[in-house]
Amino acid sequence: MQRRKYMKKIDVKPFGVTPDGIPVDLYTLENSRGVKATITNYGGIVVSLTTPDRQGKQTDVVLGFSTLEEYIQKNSPYFGCIVGRYGNRIAGAKFTLEGKEYVLAKNAGENHLHGGIKGFNKMVWKAGEIQSKDGVCLSLSYLSPDGEEGYPGNLSVTVNYTLTEDNALKIDYFAATDKTTIVNLTNHSYFNLAGEGEGTILDHQLLIHGGAFTPMSTAFVPTGEIRSVKGTPHDFTRMTVIGARIDKDDEQLRIGLGYDHNWVLDSRDGSLALAAKVVEPISGRTMEVLTTEPGVQFYSSNFLDGTLRGKNGKPYLKRGAICLETQHYPDSVHRPEFPSTILHPGEKYTQTTIYRFGVE
Ligand code: GLA
Repeated sequence: MQRRKYMKKIDVKPFGVTPDGIPVDLYTLENSRGVKATITNYGGIVVSLTTPDRQGKQTDVVLGFSTLEEYIQKNSPYFGCIVGRYGNRIAGAKFTLEGKEYVLAKNAGENHLHGGIKGFNKMVWKAGEIQSKDGVCLSLSYLSPDGEEGYPGNLSVTVNYTLTEDNALKIDYFAATDKTTIVNLTNHSYFNLAGEGEGTILDHQLLIHGGAFTPMSTAFVPTGEIRSVKGTPHDFTRMTVIGARIDKDDEQLRIGLGYDHNWVLDSRDGSLALAAKVVEPISGRTMEVLTTEPGVQFYSSNFLDGTLRGKNGKPYLKRGAICLETQHYPDSVHRPEFPSTILHPGEKYTQTTIYRFGVE
C-alpha cells in the first residue's frame, strides 16, 4: 500500500476491515523514553497509550479494545476517538444559520450528540507521517462532504497527533469550509491512570482551572446559565478527590448521574493554557491537560456499567475512567452568549490540546 512507503518512524500494521470493506491500520508512535501510543485511522481512535509510574513501569492508561471488530460491534461509547463535526449535544437536533434551518439526526433522545449517527468517530481517515519539531507525528485528514449528517459545507479536517519527548500526546486540529457551518472538535479518550480496567477513578484527584460550569436540563443540554462552582460539588479549583462529593444530593449530579458537565475555563482567549490536572496517588501518575479551547467536558463515565470488557479482558466499570473533552460549550449554536462555533469560508478553525503525563 502506497501510504506505508511514507512511514518513517511510525510503525504501521493492519487493524482490520470496516463493514464497507475498507482496510484500516494501527499506527504505533514511540518516543525515546519508551512511551507508546497506538492510533488507528478508523475514527482517529487512540487505542492505547502507555505512561510510566513512579517506578518507571509503563502501563496502558486509556480504555479501548484490541480489535477493530470490537470497536464496531460493541458500539464503542466513543473510546479514544475524534468527535466531529460537533462535540456534545445540539438541542432538538436542528439549528438555523444565515436564515436556513439544518436538521440533524436525533441520536440522544430528542437531541443530536457527537456529530450524529456516523460521525468522525466512525470515518476512515487518510493517514501519513509528517515532520514535527515536537516529536513523532501522525497526521489524519478527512473531507466531510456538504450535507453529511445534515451539516452544511464541505469541511476539510486535519488532526495531527504528536507524541512528544516530554511524554505528552499533543493533538492539533484544523478545519476549513466552503459554506458557513458549525464546528466543535474534540477527542474522547477515557483515562484511568492506574491502568485501563483497574477499578474506578473515584480515588483520582482532579484540579480544573475553571471557576464556573454550564448547568444542564434533564435532557443533558445547557440551560444557558453560567454558574459559579463556589460552594458546589463542581468546585475543583483546588485538587480534590473525584469521589469525595460525586454522590452528594445535588441536582446537577443527579441529572448527570455524576459529573458530565462543561466547565467554563478561566483562560478563554484562545491561548494554550493549563485546563486541568489529574493525579493517581498510588502509581503517582499525573496528567495535565492544556488547551486553546474555552471549555472542558468532565465526564466521569457514568454510563459504563461493567458489561464492556477491554484490552485486558477486565470489565469497564461505572466511573472506571475520566474523560476531559476540551471543547466549545455544548449547544453553543443556540446560545449566542457562548463563545461561537460558527466557521465561515476563508476562516481557519484550529484547536490544540495536550495531554501531558508525569509522576509525583
Ligand atoms: C459525553 C457526554 C456524555 C456521554 C458520553 C458518551 O461525554 O457528555 O453524556 O454521551 O459523551 O457516552
